[in-house]
Amino acid sequence: MSGAKVRVCFVCLGNICRSPTAWGVMRALVARERVPSVLVESAGTAGYHVGEGADPRTVLHAKRRGVDLAPHRARQFVRADFARFEYVLAADGDNVRALLRLAPDAAARDKVRLLRSFEPGAPDDAEVPDPYYGGADGFDEVLDICERACGGLLAHLRAAHGV
Ligand code: 4NP
Repeated sequence: MSGAKVRVCFVCLGNICRSPTAWGVMRALVARERVPSVLVESAGTAGYHVGEGADPRTVLHAKRRGVDLAPHRARQFVRADFARFEYVLAADGDNVRALLRLAPDAAARDKVRLLRSFEPGAPDDAEVPDPYYGGADGFDEVLDICERACGGLLAHLRAAHGV
């Protein structure tokens, strides 16, 4: 499969905090590592914030680490997206359950995983905690998690797809 495109969609609830962070971190990582065959997007299971940029707190904390979230616009994950991605990576268990309800068939359900399942050493069923109602530390924690998980994800994609 060397040279083939591998498409990843990160999914959280609102698509303004956690999944845009994962998108920005992974986008920066594949650019730095020169892996153009990995394509990344993000989406939310809910439509509350469709068309908006990422949460300003998310944008600020990411920027401090050199991750640019300015181009992001929130959108809702739709059933047809299952055909567009090989990996649909959810921030938490609620997102997994919402995606499994939406999935049209078993092949689509097989694409749904927790993002942190790629994080080396993370406990089974580890989630990316929702920072939306909390303080600044939560946004840094999301970045820390996304950096570890995206590193593990890239290692997996290299091994499984030869990217
Ligand atoms: P996200 O965070 O799922 O990481 O984007 C949230 C954003 C918005 C809301 C909840 C979580 N909200 O209830 O509007």
